[in-house]
Amino acid sequence: MLELKNINYSVKNNDNLVQILNNINLTFNKGITVITGQNGTGKSTLIKLIMNLINPTAGKVFYNGLDITDLTIDEHANLGFTLSFQQPIRFKGITVRDLLNIANSKNNKLSDACEYLSKVGMCAKDYIDREVDGTLSGGELKRIELAMALAKGGEVFLFDEPEAGIDLWSFDDLISIFKNLQDKIVIIVSHQEKIIQCADKVVVLDNNGYNVYNHIEALDKIKKAQCGKLGGKNE
Ligand SMILES: Nc1ncnc2c1ncn2[C@@H]1O[C@H](COP(=O)(O)OP(=O)(O)O)[C@@H](O)[C@H]1O
Ligand SMILES: [Mg+2]
Repeated sequence: MLELKNINYSVKNNDNLVQILNNINLTFNKGITVITGQNGTGKSTLIKLIMNLINPTAGKVFYNGLDITDLTIDEHANLGFTLSFQQPIRFKGITVRDLLNIANSKNNKLSDACEYLSKVGMCAKDYIDREVDGTLSGGELKRIELAMALAKGGEVFLFDEPEAGIDLWSFDDLISIFKNLQDKIVIIVSHQEKIIQCADKVVVLDNNGYNVYNHIEALDKIKKAQCGKLGGKNE
Protein backbone atom coordinates (compact mmCIF):
# COMPACT_ATOMS: atom_id res chain seq x y z
CA MET A 1 0.00 0.00 0.00
CA LEU A 2 1.20 3.45 -0.93
CA GLU A 3 0.08 6.36 1.22
CA LEU A 4 0.38 10.10 0.84
CA LYS A 5 -0.10 11.85 4.17
CA ASN A 6 -0.77 15.59 4.41
CA ILE A 7 1.25 16.29 1.28
CA ASN A 8 1.78 19.94 0.44
CA TYR A 9 3.82 21.33 -2.38
CA SER A 10 4.48 25.00 -2.97
CA VAL A 11 7.02 26.89 -5.03
CA LYS A 12 8.38 30.41 -4.85
CA ASN A 13 7.47 32.54 -7.81
CA ASN A 14 8.72 36.15 -7.80
CA ASP A 15 8.63 36.28 -4.00
CA ASN A 16 5.12 34.83 -3.94
CA LEU A 17 4.56 31.41 -2.52
CA VAL A 18 2.41 29.42 -4.95
CA GLN A 19 0.59 26.47 -3.45
CA ILE A 20 0.39 23.72 -6.06
CA LEU A 21 -0.86 20.85 -3.90
CA ASN A 22 -2.55 21.36 -0.57
CA ASN A 23 -3.05 18.73 2.10
CA ILE A 24 -3.30 15.63 -0.07
CA ASN A 25 -4.21 12.42 1.73
CA LEU A 26 -4.46 9.44 -0.57
CA THR A 27 -4.10 5.69 -0.36
CA PHE A 28 -3.17 3.57 -3.37
CA ASN A 29 -3.88 -0.13 -3.18
CA LYS A 30 -3.27 -2.88 -5.70
CA GLY A 31 -5.23 -2.19 -8.85
CA ILE A 32 -5.63 0.81 -11.10
CA THR A 33 -5.96 4.36 -9.83
CA VAL A 34 -6.42 7.05 -12.44
CA ILE A 35 -5.52 10.64 -11.59
CA THR A 36 -7.34 13.09 -13.78
CA GLY A 37 -8.22 16.78 -13.86
CA GLN A 38 -7.66 19.86 -15.96
CA ASN A 39 -4.21 21.00 -17.07
CA GLY A 40 -2.20 22.61 -14.34
CA THR A 41 -4.04 21.04 -11.41
CA GLY A 42 -0.92 19.22 -10.19
CA LYS A 43 -1.17 15.69 -11.59
CA SER A 44 2.42 15.45 -12.82
CA THR A 45 3.58 17.16 -9.63
CA LEU A 46 1.89 14.42 -7.62
CA ILE A 47 3.67 11.69 -9.61
CA LYS A 48 7.01 13.46 -9.17
CA LEU A 49 6.41 13.76 -5.42
CA ILE A 50 5.74 10.02 -5.15
CA MET A 51 9.08 9.26 -6.85
CA ASN A 52 10.85 12.07 -4.95
CA LEU A 53 11.89 13.77 -8.17
CA ILE A 54 10.67 16.76 -6.18
CA ASN A 55 10.42 16.87 -2.41
CA PRO A 56 7.16 17.86 -0.71
CA THR A 57 7.07 21.11 1.24
CA ALA A 58 5.28 19.19 3.96
CA GLY A 59 3.90 15.69 4.42
CA LYS A 60 5.13 12.14 4.01
CA VAL A 61 4.93 9.27 1.54
CA PHE A 62 4.77 5.73 2.93
CA TYR A 63 5.13 2.43 1.09
CA ASN A 64 4.03 -0.62 3.07
CA GLY A 65 4.57 1.42 6.22
CA LEU A 66 8.09 2.54 5.23
CA ASP A 67 8.71 6.28 5.02
CA ILE A 68 9.98 6.73 1.46
CA THR A 69 9.59 10.53 1.27
CA ASP A 70 13.30 11.20 1.04
CA LEU A 71 14.51 8.09 -0.78
CA THR A 72 16.43 8.64 -4.01
CA ILE A 73 15.07 7.59 -7.38
CA ASP A 74 17.43 4.57 -7.34
CA GLU A 75 16.11 3.55 -3.94
CA HIS A 76 12.58 3.85 -5.28
CA ALA A 77 13.58 1.64 -8.22
CA ASN A 78 15.01 -0.95 -5.83
CA LEU A 79 11.68 -1.02 -4.00
CA GLY A 80 9.98 -1.78 -7.31
CA PHE A 81 8.81 1.67 -8.43
CA THR A 82 8.67 2.07 -12.21
CA LEU A 83 7.99 5.47 -13.71
CA SER A 84 7.07 5.79 -17.35
CA PHE A 85 8.32 9.10 -18.63
CA GLN A 86 6.85 10.82 -21.60
CA GLN A 87 9.54 9.58 -23.96
CA PRO A 88 12.56 7.28 -23.70
CA ILE A 89 16.08 8.58 -23.94
CA ARG A 90 17.41 8.81 -27.45
CA PHE A 91 21.05 8.08 -28.14
CA LYS A 92 22.65 7.50 -31.45
CA GLY A 93 23.60 3.86 -31.82
CA ILE A 94 21.26 2.61 -29.06
CA THR A 95 18.73 0.10 -30.35
CA VAL A 96 15.32 -0.84 -29.03
CA ARG A 97 16.81 -4.13 -27.89
CA ASP A 98 19.56 -2.29 -25.94
CA LEU A 99 16.94 -0.20 -24.14
CA LEU A 100 14.90 -3.25 -23.18
CA ASN A 101 18.05 -4.95 -21.91
CA ILE A 102 18.95 -1.87 -19.87
CA ALA A 103 15.43 -1.85 -18.41
CA ASN A 104 15.74 -5.45 -17.33
CA SER A 105 19.42 -6.14 -16.77
CA LYS A 106 18.73 -9.53 -15.16
CA ASN A 107 17.08 -11.01 -18.22
CA ASN A 108 18.36 -10.35 -21.71
CA LYS A 109 16.40 -13.08 -23.45
CA LEU A 110 15.44 -12.07 -26.97
CA SER A 111 12.11 -13.89 -26.70
CA ASP A 112 11.13 -11.81 -23.66
CA ALA A 113 12.17 -8.56 -25.34
CA CYS A 114 9.98 -9.53 -28.31
CA GLU A 115 7.08 -10.32 -26.01
CA TYR A 116 7.24 -6.87 -24.36
CA LEU A 117 7.15 -5.27 -27.80
CA SER A 118 4.19 -7.32 -28.93
CA LYS A 119 2.36 -6.42 -25.69
CA VAL A 120 2.59 -2.76 -26.70
CA GLY A 121 1.37 -3.54 -30.19
CA MET A 122 4.72 -3.49 -31.99
CA CYS A 123 5.99 -6.12 -34.38
CA ALA A 124 9.23 -7.21 -32.71
CA LYS A 125 10.98 -8.20 -35.91
CA ASP A 126 10.51 -4.71 -37.34
CA TYR A 127 11.67 -2.84 -34.26
CA ILE A 128 14.04 -4.87 -32.11
CA ASP A 129 17.17 -3.72 -34.00
CA ARG A 130 15.95 -0.21 -34.81
CA GLU A 131 18.00 2.63 -33.47
CA VAL A 132 16.13 4.82 -30.99
CA ASP A 133 16.69 8.03 -32.89
CA GLY A 134 14.79 10.77 -34.65
CA THR A 135 13.38 8.37 -37.22
CA LEU A 136 10.90 6.91 -34.73
CA SER A 137 7.56 8.64 -34.40
CA GLY A 138 6.26 10.01 -31.11
CA GLY A 139 3.79 7.14 -30.86
CA GLU A 140 6.49 4.55 -31.48
CA LEU A 141 8.72 6.14 -28.83
CA LYS A 142 5.83 6.10 -26.41
CA ARG A 143 5.21 2.41 -26.99
CA ILE A 144 8.93 1.66 -26.53
CA GLU A 145 8.75 3.54 -23.25
CA LEU A 146 5.81 1.37 -22.17
CA ALA A 147 7.66 -1.79 -23.24
CA MET A 148 10.60 -0.64 -21.09
CA ALA A 149 8.29 -0.25 -18.10
CA LEU A 150 7.03 -3.82 -18.65
CA ALA A 151 10.61 -5.12 -19.05
CA LYS A 152 11.62 -3.35 -15.86
CA GLY A 153 8.71 -4.86 -13.95
CA GLY A 154 8.10 -3.94 -10.33
CA GLU A 155 5.35 -3.44 -7.80
CA VAL A 156 4.33 0.18 -8.28
CA PHE A 157 3.83 1.53 -11.81
CA LEU A 158 3.41 5.22 -12.48
CA PHE A 159 2.32 6.40 -15.93
CA ASP A 160 1.99 10.07 -16.76
CA GLU A 161 -0.38 10.46 -19.72
CA PRO A 162 0.54 7.17 -21.40
CA GLU A 163 -1.97 7.88 -24.16
CA ALA A 164 -0.01 10.90 -25.40
CA GLY A 165 1.00 10.45 -29.01
CA ILE A 166 -0.64 7.10 -29.56
CA ASP A 167 -3.91 8.26 -31.05
CA LEU A 168 -3.61 5.91 -33.97
CA TRP A 169 -2.89 2.91 -31.85
CA SER A 170 -5.79 0.84 -30.67
CA PHE A 171 -6.62 1.89 -27.16
CA ASP A 172 -7.58 -1.66 -26.34
CA ASP A 173 -3.91 -2.69 -26.46
CA LEU A 174 -3.05 0.02 -23.97
CA ILE A 175 -5.93 -0.95 -21.69
CA SER A 176 -4.90 -4.61 -21.76
CA ILE A 177 -1.39 -3.64 -20.61
CA PHE A 178 -2.89 -1.93 -17.58
CA LYS A 179 -5.32 -4.75 -16.89
CA ASN A 180 -2.41 -7.22 -16.91
CA LEU A 181 -0.81 -5.18 -14.14
CA GLN A 182 -3.88 -5.31 -11.91
CA ASP A 183 -2.11 -7.23 -9.14
CA LYS A 184 0.31 -4.30 -8.83
CA ILE A 185 -0.21 -0.74 -7.67
CA VAL A 186 -0.83 1.11 -10.92
CA ILE A 187 -1.23 4.90 -10.97
CA ILE A 188 -2.09 6.47 -14.30
CA VAL A 189 -2.45 10.16 -15.05
CA SER A 190 -4.93 10.25 -17.89
CA HIS A 191 -7.78 12.18 -19.49
CA GLN A 192 -9.01 9.27 -21.55
CA GLU A 193 -12.48 7.98 -20.86
CA LYS A 194 -11.50 4.41 -21.79
CA ILE A 195 -8.63 4.45 -19.31
CA ILE A 196 -10.81 6.00 -16.60
CA GLN A 197 -13.35 3.23 -17.25
CA CYS A 198 -10.87 0.54 -16.21
CA ALA A 199 -9.92 2.30 -12.97
CA ASP A 200 -10.75 0.89 -9.55
CA LYS A 201 -10.46 4.40 -8.17
CA VAL A 202 -10.34 7.84 -9.76
CA VAL A 203 -8.75 10.89 -8.16
CA VAL A 204 -10.06 14.11 -9.70
CA LEU A 205 -7.86 17.13 -9.06
CA ASP A 206 -9.15 20.65 -9.47
CA ASN A 207 -8.01 24.09 -8.44
CA ASN A 208 -9.67 23.76 -5.05
CA GLY A 209 -8.39 20.33 -4.13
CA TYR A 210 -9.36 16.81 -5.03
CA ASN A 211 -12.06 14.18 -4.77
CA VAL A 212 -11.93 10.41 -4.95
CA TYR A 213 -14.60 8.56 -6.92
CA ASN A 214 -15.30 5.24 -8.53
CA HIS A 215 -15.06 5.37 -12.32
CA ILE A 216 -18.79 5.74 -12.90
CA GLU A 217 -19.08 8.73 -10.53
CA ALA A 218 -15.91 10.23 -11.96
CA LEU A 219 -17.08 10.09 -15.58
CA ASP A 220 -20.42 11.52 -14.50
CA LYS A 221 -18.69 14.44 -12.74
CA ILE A 222 -16.43 15.09 -15.72
CA LYS A 223 -19.37 15.09 -18.14
CA LYS A 224 -21.33 17.45 -15.91
CA ALA A 225 -18.34 19.77 -15.63
CA GLN A 226 -17.99 19.78 -19.43
CA CYS A 227 -21.70 20.55 -19.83
CA GLY A 228 -21.30 23.41 -17.36
CA LYS A 229 -18.51 24.87 -19.45
CA LEU A 230 -20.54 24.61 -22.62
CA GLY A 231 -23.30 26.56 -20.95
CA GLY A 232 -25.48 23.57 -20.13
CA LYS A 233 -27.13 23.03 -16.81
CA ASN A 234 -24.77 21.74 -14.18
CA GLU A 235 -26.43 19.64 -11.42
N1 LIG B 1 8.72 24.52 -10.26
C1 LIG B 1 7.60 25.17 -10.54
N2 LIG B 1 7.54 26.51 -10.48
C2 LIG B 1 6.40 27.19 -10.74
N3 LIG B 1 5.24 26.60 -11.04
C3 LIG B 1 5.23 25.26 -11.12
C4 LIG B 1 6.40 24.47 -10.86
N4 LIG B 1 6.06 23.17 -11.01
C5 LIG B 1 4.77 23.16 -11.35
N5 LIG B 1 4.27 24.40 -11.41
C6 LIG B 1 2.88 24.78 -11.71
O1 LIG B 1 2.06 23.94 -10.94
C7 LIG B 1 0.88 23.63 -11.64
C8 LIG B 1 0.70 22.13 -11.73
O2 LIG B 1 1.62 21.59 -12.66
P1 LIG B 1 1.55 20.09 -13.16
O3 LIG B 1 1.66 19.19 -11.99
O4 LIG B 1 2.55 19.92 -14.24
O5 LIG B 1 0.06 20.05 -13.73
P2 LIG B 1 -0.69 18.93 -14.57
O6 LIG B 1 0.22 17.75 -14.73
O7 LIG B 1 -1.93 18.63 -13.79
O8 LIG B 1 -1.05 19.57 -15.88
C9 LIG B 1 0.99 24.32 -12.99
O9 LIG B 1 0.29 25.53 -12.93
C10 LIG B 1 2.48 24.55 -13.13
O10 LIG B 1 2.73 25.66 -13.93
MG1 LIG C 1 1.06 16.82 -16.41
